[in-house]
Amino acid sequence: MAARDASKVPVKDLTEAQAKAELKRLAAEIAEHDRRYYQEDAPTLSDAAYDALRARNEAVEAQFPALVRPDSPTRRVGAKPSGRFAKIRHAVPMLSLQNAFDDGDVRDFVNRIRRFLRLDEREALTFTAEPKIDGLSLSIRYERGRLVSAATRGDGTEGEDVTANLKTLRDVPHELLGKGVPEICEVRGEVYMTRADFLALNKRFEAEGKPTMANPRNGAAGSLRQLDVSVTASRPLKFFAYSWGEMSEMPRDTQFAMVEWLASCGFVTNPDVKLCRSLDDMLKAYREIESKRASFAYDIDGVVYKLDRIAWQERLGYVGRTPRWAVAHKFPAEKATTIVRGIEIQVGRTGALTPVAKLVPVTVGGVVVSNATLHNEQEIERKDVRIGDTVTIQRAGDVIPQVLGVVLDKRSKDAKPFKFPKVCPCPLKTPVMREATASGEEGAVLRCSGEFACPFQVVEHLIHFVSRRAFDIDGLGEKQIALFHERGWIREPADIFTLEERNRTIRLEEEEGFGEVSVRRLFDAIAARRDISLERFIYSLGIRHIGDTTARALARAYGSWSAFHEACRALAKGDAGTRAELDSLDQIGDAVIESLAAYFGEEHNRGLVDRLTRQVHIRDAERPAAGSPVGGKTVVFTGSLEKMTRDEAKAMAERLGAKVSGSVSSKTDYVVAGPGAGSKLDKAREFGVNVLSEDEWFALVGAGSR
Ligand code: IVH
Repeated sequence: MAARDASKVPVKDLTEAQAKAELKRLAAEIAEHDRRYYQEDAPTLSDAAYDALRARNEAVEAQFPALVRPDSPTRRVGAKPSGRFAKIRHAVPMLSLQNAFDDGDVRDFVNRIRRFLRLDEREALTFTAEPKIDGLSLSIRYERGRLVSAATRGDGTEGEDVTANLKTLRDVPHELLGKGVPEICEVRGEVYMTRADFLALNKRFEAEGKPTMANPRNGAAGSLRQLDVSVTASRPLKFFAYSWGEMSEMPRDTQFAMVEWLASCGFVTNPDVKLCRSLDDMLKAYREIESKRASFAYDIDGVVYKLDRIAWQERLGYVGRTPRWAVAHKFPAEKATTIVRGIEIQVGRTGALTPVAKLVPVTVGGVVVSNATLHNEQEIERKDVRIGDTVTIQRAGDVIPQVLGVVLDKRSKDAKPFKFPKVCPCPLKTPVMREATASGEEGAVLRCSGEFACPFQVVEHLIHFVSRRAFDIDGLGEKQIALFHERGWIREPADIFTLEERNRTIRLEEEEGFGEVSVRRLFDAIAARRDISLERFIYSLGIRHIGDTTARALARAYGSWSAFHEACRALAKGDAGTRAELDSLDQIGDAVIESLAAYFGEEHNRGLVDRLTRQVHIRDAERPAAGSPVGGKTVVFTGSLEKMTRDEAKAMAERLGAKVSGSVSSKTDYVVAGPGAGSKLDKAREFGVNVLSEDEWFALVGAGSR
């Protein structure tokens, strides 16, 4: 057998030449995955698949000790048998921030808060304004004043246990100073690296022939997430405390005072936090911080405003993953110029064809960019982007870089106009269609008409199906999905769950890159996901306009798969009542309703969903507050509420697990009626629904729920 096939051979059957080739391959692969995991904080391999690589490397080394390479993964100082961190579930989720891109967005943010809390123009609102540090956020838990654990943000719900690493940072106290520290304190903030430290470290790496890091943020993430704690200890990491998670007691009642309190406990806090008493103050603070940007020792990418009064923060609560009481006012995007080497068409999950400019790599704000989106055919025409052109590109935050325009002075005679293809670049070469917009006009987006016949779309659908916020199947990533699809082993989601059964003939363990151990782990990972929450299930279907926040709203509103499925089928058949019911839900609008109707109106989709639901068990939606007196109940608010705004009432009821509806039916459990309630109140009486005053509502849910 040729040495290049050695990866398939069981360790005990390897010849010496094959073992040598295997050790070389494994050292290179593991090093590459380590780089992605540690330096880029963007692993492309599941923990299980990574462990399998390391286990194979060790087994080969044990069999052929003379062949152990100097660059073997087992030889690295401090390397552990398994290369990854344990997981920690956050007691309180770690959220992200909504962005504001201009002064108008900030004004809207302040006005939204006023409306939500129903505050008078004359009532002063105070905000803090502080630099938005470009690092990675961390949650540090203290029990009885002692540091017990530290976790990265991860997906917001679950992060990685970096306790030992974090303890090496000088800015972080192991014990909280001061008397009367609450029993449980979770302190949150940003780990970062100064620009000077980052440049010095990269210089050292360069001299040592090690790969350099793209920017200080990557430098900080890579340095913190080291299994060998002594490596983290040798890196110049710093920490600013700016927030908190679970607190058994709140020692102060404003944001500003909390940050002062964190400083009194021994944390380093940002010296540039300002108190602002008006929108003008906030915008002034923004300009001041922006003008000082270059003089800060560390990178910042905007200014964060937070409503100062914590009681109001609590009333405002969250939408999806972002708080209503804070916003990040971003600095304008960074720009650069480079040359377009070519234009490629990418096909997304929904069949949309997106032209992507392949660029001569260029650094924009510290990150190397080699692709930028051109959005659609019209954009290419409007900007007249040709292959060979010099273009300006911009990168704003985490958004995909975009082509802004052509530098016409630099256009060469051979610059070639791009002809948008009339067919999908997939092997089927299906014709592309222009999608009509909601108002019936010709839209900008071209879509492949192949739907499930188009392999690109199917693969994108499947990748979405197994992605982190959907079924989250360890060991089943883009690479494996593409391979399994190409071989015809997985054509639709249900096939994932019958793979093990069919493996008697497929024999996956004989494929390159797989072995007995990794195949076993893959099947175990698949089996573990047969039990799935309703919100993940809805999200995983990849229905247009249904992201994870919408999926959660739908799951909470319907509670069970059977109720949701029944509603969707009725909707697809044109049932007006179901449409009205969906329309009355918070966060659900026309786009979602239309796409649910279209999805469940399609026979292929209905079959796909039926086959899938036969393979999995879908758990009923978790009620956000266990034991809530209104959990699972349907509530209608009507009339003018006096103690809270309509939005606030809705948010509160939903937080307590109730479904808020806009219309009264026999299924309504409570109608909360303020003065001036009209026809809905009549209807409630007609159906015999429980009618509550605002005070009775508060008595029902308990005063503490505010
Ligand atoms: S407050 C609930 N303050 O920005 C709000 N975040 O986009 C919690 N960040 O994940 C965040 N500087 O990593 C806050 N002064 C600051 C920040 C800051 C940087 C990061 C943080 C967070 C992200 C949100």
